[in-house]
Amino acid sequence: MRKTINVNLKEMNFKQLFEQISPEKISDNVFTLVGKIFPVVTAGSENHFNSMTASGGGLGMLFKKPTTWCILQSTRYTLEMIQKEQTYTLSYFPKEYKKQILFLGSKSGRDSEKMKEVKLTGIKTPSGNISYKEARLIFECKLTEITTPDPDDFYSLEVKDYIKEMYKDTNEHRKYVFGEITHVWVKK
Ligand SMILES: Cc1cc2nc3c(=O)[nH]c(=O)nc-3n(C[C@H](O)[C@H](O)[C@H](O)COP(=O)(O)O)c2cc1C
Repeated sequence: MRKTINVNLKEMNFKQLFEQISPEKISDNVFTLVGKIFPVVTAGSENHFNSMTASGGGLGMLFKKPTTWCILQSTRYTLEMIQKEQTYTLSYFPKEYKKQILFLGSKSGRDSEKMKEVKLTGIKTPSGNISYKEARLIFECKLTEITTPDPDDFYSLEVKDYIKEMYKDTNEHRKYVFGEITHVWVKK
C-alpha cells in the first residue's frame, strides 16, 4: 500500500493526501511524538521556505488554545522565518525518511542549498503554510510567544549544570517557541 502511495505522491494534491482532524483526535502518544520522532519545523512561503530538524518540546494548552512548543537556538534561520511569517508547521514523518530529516538538521539553509538538495516534496496547505507530501502528521501553528529564559530561571541542580555548560561559550540562548495549533492534518 505504502509503495502505491509513494509512486503517486508527486501527482497528488494536499486534499488527496491529507485529512484534517481535531487536536483531540491525535492518536500518537505525546511522549513518543515529542521524544522519539524528530519533527521538521518549516516556515516561509511557497517561493522561499526553510526547514530544520528539532527535538524535545511538547504539546499542551496555552491561553486556552491547543499549543505546541519547541526550543530553538536563536541563530536558526528557520526561527528567523517563523518570526517574519508568524506561522509555521511541525511535520512528522514515517521512519523511512530519517535520512532526509537528519539532513535538514545538518546545515543551515541560511548559507547552504539544503532546501534544494533535500529529497522531500514541499506542499502548501490550504492556509498557505508549507509542509511535505511525505509527512504523516502536520501541525500548522500560529506563533503565540517566544520566550528566552534566563539561566537563573532554572532550579534543579541537574538542569542548572546543563544550562551552565550549554551557555558557557555562547550568548546564543535557546528560545522557547509557543505556537497555537490552527490545523492538524493526518495522511489519508
Ligand atoms: C536530530 C536533531 C535534532 C535537533 N534538534 C534541535 C532543536 O531542538 N533545536 C535547535 O535549535 N536545533 C536542533 N537541531 C539542529 C538544527 O536542526 C540545525 O542546526 C539546522 O541546521 C538549523 O537549520 P536552519 O539554520 O536552516 O534553520 C537538531 C538537529 C538534529 C539532527
